[in-house]
Amino acid sequence: MANIFACLIDYLFPVPFFAFSIFYFTLAFVKNPFLPLTNFDSFKEKAFAGLWLKFGAAFSDQTPTEVDELLAGSKGLILDVGPGSGEQLRRFSHPENIRTIYGVEPGVTLHDKLRANAGKVGLGDKYRVIGGTADLDSILPTLVKDGVVKNDRPSAKDLAVFDEIVCVRVLCGVPDQEASVADLYGMLKPGGRFVLCEHVVNNRSWGANLAQKFWMLVGWKALMGGCDLRRDTVQAFLKVAKEKDGGFAKVEMTQVDPHSISTHVVGVLTKKQKKR
Ligand SMILES: C[S@@+](CC[C@H](N)C(=O)[O-])C[C@H]1O[C@@H](n2cnc3c(N)ncnc32)[C@H](O)[C@@H]1O
Repeated sequence: MANIFACLIDYLFPVPFFAFSIFYFTLAFVKNPFLPLTNFDSFKEKAFAGLWLKFGAAFSDQTPTEVDELLAGSKGLILDVGPGSGEQLRRFSHPENIRTIYGVEPGVTLHDKLRANAGKVGLGDKYRVIGGTADLDSILPTLVKDGVVKNDRPSAKDLAVFDEIVCVRVLCGVPDQEASVADLYGMLKPGGRFVLCEHVVNNRSWGANLAQKFWMLVGWKALMGGCDLRRDTVQAFLKVAKEKDGGFAKVEMTQVDPHSISTHVVGVLTKKQKKR
């Protein structure tokens, strides 16, 4: 009985988020009544930012704790994909080992708080914000400008500059996951690691799987900044690695909360040192 009750609570967790999201869409409309007509993407960005600035910290507290140890070991040159307002930055608990982090975040309304949070956790000048998406075209110009990549038509070898690429709850919302993952893969050094913490499709619990289908059907994606509850994100990485290098050197992923509608995959994928 207790189990059924816990499952029901879990399956219904999107209800308050629907309500909050509708509230922040309305607020964005009241503040910018012409924006939906002139720039709908910017309107959606403002609505999502309103929600995230209010609840991002609470969401961050619900992140699987396994990721803390992984980010404590972060070092070198890092790409932080979709950091939002930077509520996860405190998990980079050894900033002294980090040379630079590039945070690529399309939500421009979140950038001030992102920079402030980077400052708070001792990453200050080491954290560079890129207003863009998880795609090569968005990221490359800044890397070239900073001299991290030599020119804007780099060879595959010259492009693979990052020691680590961090994706925490972001790849659920990129418009073309396969394309983004392929671009990210190309930017990771041989021997470098992807640190992933993503909620994914639940193929281990039929109830949670059905609930995910239901919430997607009734508009979760539209109301939650493009978030798709049903992506098989690890599979997307494995596919790209197989095509490019015959696979990863090491796959250390675990599935957390396997009965939940927001089950997560957490862990590290290590790129091979050399091509076969
Ligand atoms: C659910 S929030 C998570 C934020 C942060 N990673 C955290 O866990 O607190 C998803 C973030 O991904 C960003 N995002 C959406 N589409 C993106 C894209 N194509 N490339 C990079 N980031 C994206 C959103 O703007 C948002 O800040």
